[in-house]
Amino acid sequence: MTDIDQLKDDLQGQSPRAIIKVALARYDNIAISFSGAEDVALIELAHKMTDNLKVFTLDTGRLHAETYEFIDRVRRHYKIDIEILFPDAAEVEALVSNKGLFSFYEDGHSECCGIRKVNPLRRKLAGVDAWITGQRRDQSPDTRNDVPIVQRDEAFSSDTRTLVKFNPMANWTSKEVWDYIRMTEAPYNTLHEKGFVSIGCQPCTRPILPGQHEREGRWWWEEATKKECGLHAGKVIATE
Ligand code: ADX
Ligand code: SF4
Repeated sequence: MTDIDQLKDDLQGQSPRAIIKVALARYDNIAISFSGAEDVALIELAHKMTDNLKVFTLDTGRLHAETYEFIDRVRRHYKIDIEILFPDAAEVEALVSNKGLFSFYEDGHSECCGIRKVNPLRRKLAGVDAWITGQRRDQSPDTRNDVPIVQRDEAFSSDTRTLVKFNPMANWTSKEVWDYIRMTEAPYNTLHEKGFVSIGCQPCTRPILPGQHEREGRWWWEEATKKECGLHAGKVIATE
């Protein structure tokens, strides 16, 4: 049994608070990847445990105005620095010059997500030992059913380096996240007041109707099983 398997066993059934505490105690060089409601809950829990909280977000250049406002509100609310990562300018220029600004509607989201999200994430993760995400199991029945509390990140580790990925919210439901946000009066994206549940980039996110699954508001023109942008794939192919 590897160290990580042992840790996974130890953390099974533990609360997000307990999981984050262990993660921060075990790794100095660890960062929270922040974009949505789950991640604010992570920050709310973690900011009380350390003075050295590292938080980053991937600015794809295609976020809603409300999301930019939200990111800055979180920065001010918790008095933390949020590292904002941009995609490589030459890669974006080549993509949009060759294929236009909405190529993802024609040939799928993976190329654009690769350039705007996955490559900057890879750059960031090369400099940390572990990262913390807000993934939940019930976020996507087709792709996230098996999200573990902690894992070796198979997408971003290499033969010579193990990157550890914590998913402390894996067992929480959306309701638990939102109860916690309301209880702590944590900031949230105002798009949630307009019917948006799972929020990504503006052209690839839409509000959902009552009874729809949250994931149906993302990349709605594609099959459910393809609704991952590569941040959390088992293995991803670099777009270079
Ligand atoms: S995505 O893969 O479909 O875009 P989702 O929106 O469900 O991901 O978010 C799951 C987790 O991925 C978040 O809790 C966060 O940790 C991370 N994440 C997603 N988008 C970003 C982003 N733009 N910047 C940083 N982290 C992100
Ligand atoms: Fe591009 Fe849409 Fe992916 Fe954002 S979610 S990086 S706009 S394909």
